[in-house]
Amino acid sequence: MCGIVGYVGNRSCLPILIEGLKRLEYRGYDSAGIAVQQNGALLVRKAAGKVRVLEERVKDGKIVAHSGIAHTRWATHGAPNDINAHPHTDCSGKIAVVHNGIIENYGVLKSALLAEGHKFVTETDTEVLAHLIEKHVKRGLKLEQAVGAALRAVEGTYGIAVVSSDEPGVIVGARNGSPLVVGVADGEYFLASDVAPIVGHTRQVVYLDDGEMAVISPDGFHTATINHQPIDKPVHEVEWDLGQIEKGGYDHFMLKEIHDQPASVRDSMRGRLIVDEGLARLGGLNMTPEQMRDIKRIIILACGTSWHAGLIGEYMLEEHARIPVEVEYASEFRYRNPIVDQGTVVLVISQSGETLDTLAAMREARRKGARALGLVNVVGSTIARESDGGVYIHAGPEIGVASTKAFTSQVTVLALLTLVLGRQREMSVEDGLLLARALDAIPGKIERILQREADVDKIVQLYGGHDNFLYLGRGYNFPVALEGALKLKEISYIHAEGYPAAEMKHGPIALIDENMPVVFICTRDAAYDKVMSNMSEVRARKGRIIAIATEGDDAVKERADHVLYVPDTLTCLQPLLSVIPLQLLAYKVAVNRGCDVDQPRNLAKSVTVE
Ligand code: F6R
Repeated sequence: MCGIVGYVGNRSCLPILIEGLKRLEYRGYDSAGIAVQQNGALLVRKAAGKVRVLEERVKDGKIVAHSGIAHTRWATHGAPNDINAHPHTDCSGKIAVVHNGIIENYGVLKSALLAEGHKFVTETDTEVLAHLIEKHVKRGLKLEQAVGAALRAVEGTYGIAVVSSDEPGVIVGARNGSPLVVGVADGEYFLASDVAPIVGHTRQVVYLDDGEMAVISPDGFHTATINHQPIDKPVHEVEWDLGQIEKGGYDHFMLKEIHDQPASVRDSMRGRLIVDEGLARLGGLNMTPEQMRDIKRIIILACGTSWHAGLIGEYMLEEHARIPVEVEYASEFRYRNPIVDQGTVVLVISQSGETLDTLAAMREARRKGARALGLVNVVGSTIARESDGGVYIHAGPEIGVASTKAFTSQVTVLALLTLVLGRQREMSVEDGLLLARALDAIPGKIERILQREADVDKIVQLYGGHDNFLYLGRGYNFPVALEGALKLKEISYIHAEGYPAAEMKHGPIALIDENMPVVFICTRDAAYDKVMSNMSEVRARKGRIIAIATEGDDAVKERADHVLYVPDTLTCLQPLLSVIPLQLLAYKVAVNRGCDVDQPRNLAKSVTVE
């Protein structure tokens, strides 16, 4: 989604803003722009396409400024072109605004402003903000007051940064539903939609909450509500460093993050897994053992890849902790009238902690009285802050738009939660020890799979040009089939479907012929023989079979055209291994087709609109 960066200080702002925009590229965008305060005026430059196009446009040496705002836009209202790119200005060109989110009542506001004589030049919802602020500045208000007055008339979501040529060195930011962070350094201050553009300069940050504003200038910063009630906000220390948000020698963030997984899964378990006792300790749940024992039902809320991890969590928690679990698409949950009775705990899974549907579903569940626990990666994110407790998955920054290491860390933490809740219930010491030891061995086994990365290459050469793929699995491997298909479609734009293997004969089998590659996830578990039968059904119809199988399984070679092996583990942990070759397959197919893996078309890393 859109990204914001703003800077005030002693240094030249241009390189800081451009570098900041590059660090925000991972969020997904289609155009970019900047506005700087220079010699009592605003200079605005915009460009459709990549940040490097904008960079070319500002290379003329005309910008020599120390404060400014910049933006990457992911179009919602109006085509992705130069004009609709942010920043947007008022009639006089003295006020510039960058905005993440959607102004829902922009139609009404625009009509009123047009009637008052304001001239609009873009198709965006954001432009109304510039004109609304202008209106209040003309009434004699300072920029901060004018922004507050404008925002009080607005319905919708926003993270904004605003500058005015009349107040050099001042940037006003505000948030409602779209994150905004203030970076605090010595004599310089930053505003950004996440910490990525800030961490190279400072680790001291202040997270704004909904309905709050921040004003930064070289002299300092202050925070208040949009009604101008001052608020003291704590300064947090960001744990990530710059190295973690760079590619570290890999061609793409996605490949780096696939390779990060032995370490990221280890980090998710660090200090939590007690192998010798078959136990886990999760400090952040904020629940007493009695409260945990009283959980009667769990509803998991998530979207996309996080939803797939949730399905695996459902299987684990029901099998080992014997707690009934439902997994809901957050976007569906929030618009039904779901039953949230006493004893229901809501588990909210989100890498970014900012996905709007997930956040809104969590708020709805809490409104109905549920305790909400967050399984979140981004520290300080909105879901992490608004939940009643939870567990950070500690995967480290995930920059690749296609989620990889967050998925395996989410599943790892769900396994830890299963240990915690299971051992309080029917899980024996022996079973706890088995699960804990198997979990402990997972990072080493992922390493082994990654060492065989080249095995995927032949499959890419043979099938990379196909337009359709089917992914089939049963039990714990069914969500893996969904995840494998999602990975392929989002970065290579190949149509791929994930299905429970047994469902194939209820419809999708009609698709099978010699042009349909079918990926079977058929590791050795209770469903193995059934999956092998499904494989025979595909083979009988000349479908081409790629199997993900357990090391040492030679029988599978008789039915599959190609086999990618993964080490054996407990059935419930199998997804942590079987997903790895599927991530590599999707990555390599996309690269082979010349797709921009780190910035797939139409996609955004953090989906902060409905
Ligand atoms: C797929 C992917 C998305 C996200 C989804 C939820 O690779 O990344 O499907 O999983 O948008 O995002 P979070 O987990 O940030 O709530």
